[in-house]
Amino acid sequence: MAEKLKAPRGTFDALPESQPARQRIEGQARKMLEASGYGRIETPAFEDTELFARGVGGSTDIVQKQMFSFTDQGGRELTLRPEGTAPVCRAYIEHGMHKLPQPVKLWYAGPYFRHERPQAGRFRQFNQIGAEVMGSDSPLVDAELIVLLHDLFTDLGIEGTRLRLGSLGTAETRRAYLEELTTYLRSRESELSKEVVARLDSNPLRAFDSDDEGTQTVMADAPKLMDRLDSADADHFAHVRSLLDEQGVSYDLDPTLVRGLDYYTRTVFEFESSKLGAQAALGGGGRYDGLMSQLGGPDTPAAGWGAGIERIALALGEQEPPRLDAFIVADDAARDRALALAFDLRRHGLAADLDLAERSAKGQMKQADRSGARYAVFLEGEGEPQLRAMESGEQRQVAAAELATHMRKAINS
Ligand code: HAM
Repeated sequence: MAEKLKAPRGTFDALPESQPARQRIEGQARKMLEASGYGRIETPAFEDTELFARGVGGSTDIVQKQMFSFTDQGGRELTLRPEGTAPVCRAYIEHGMHKLPQPVKLWYAGPYFRHERPQAGRFRQFNQIGAEVMGSDSPLVDAELIVLLHDLFTDLGIEGTRLRLGSLGTAETRRAYLEELTTYLRSRESELSKEVVARLDSNPLRAFDSDDEGTQTVMADAPKLMDRLDSADADHFAHVRSLLDEQGVSYDLDPTLVRGLDYYTRTVFEFESSKLGAQAALGGGGRYDGLMSQLGGPDTPAAGWGAGIERIALALGEQEPPRLDAFIVADDAARDRALALAFDLRRHGLAADLDLAERSAKGQMKQADRSGARYAVFLEGEGEPQLRAMESGEQRQVAAAELATHMRKAINS
């Protein structure tokens, strides 16, 4: 026998039973974003590698280790998109969207690709919903984006989320701060763990996440970036916070929040779920005022977020098969009528199915049970259908011509 093939490591098939949750997540996001003035954008699944090298940043894990890059038959260097912000900025520039009334508000949903070590909630192909607002540096933009993501999680019924909020200031502020932090850490090097010392020059911020007791004591007194913001950045951040307070969105100020992409300036945020393990981030984002000009576009302040559909589905914990309204059980003489009746119900917006494998009536009844349909519809010979409510077992005859209307009423009551 030929060897069986499997989906590539870190990828998965989204089977029918996972679809109700996935569609509810995307549907809810679409409804909320479109009702807030966001238009949908779809960009290619692959882009020039240069876009991510420049946009996401050469020193990030994403660019250094996680990109699926390839050379195509024409010798072009391409990469499966690891994230959505740089592509949306590329599209904004390419289509001259700076000439539109600002800000331009866009949303997207689709697959993204990162060559990460697979584990629960971490995949090599995953799906994100994202929102980007380009062309305004107003704190109202940051607040709108954060409240939208907060409301999305609330409306979906996800409990136990925590919002971490920070501000990174400008690139210059950050550079000066990192120097100050490194000097501080060097001055107390003997008290730090070996791992922290090894990473001191490449990533001193990691020291804030250390479990080591000695390191934690040192970090308690370490300078914090949020205390080093210049007055314009500090005012901006204070304004964002007061807008969140007004909306009743609670957050934990986190001076150590570092995100895995280089483009952030000012506000950064991340929503975590207590229902997830190590991969707790449901979604996150922030402001990226310098990215557009870095990609060759006009100076354009912008902000946005991305949220993982699989992580949200995990936090919801839902797994249910798509539910049918009716399963039609027909005897041999009524098989063709069963197909016509199924289409009549479908055209009236009902979810209906029937046996397509010439099963016995008993076999069809089993199928009706397994399908989780609300009703079974029995068709015998030329007779009118019998409608049975699967839960109560109540059964009655309904004229075929009135069945759809009757069922719709019964379902909506
Ligand atoms: P990110 O934090 O890298 O941000 O990803 C956003 C979300 O995508 C994460 O919070 C997580 O839910 C999901 N995610 C990321 N990697 C994986 C993975 N390997 N498996 C499953 N889910 C994953 C961005 O991508 C930015 N573009 C967000 C943004 C938009 N910032 C500004 N605008």
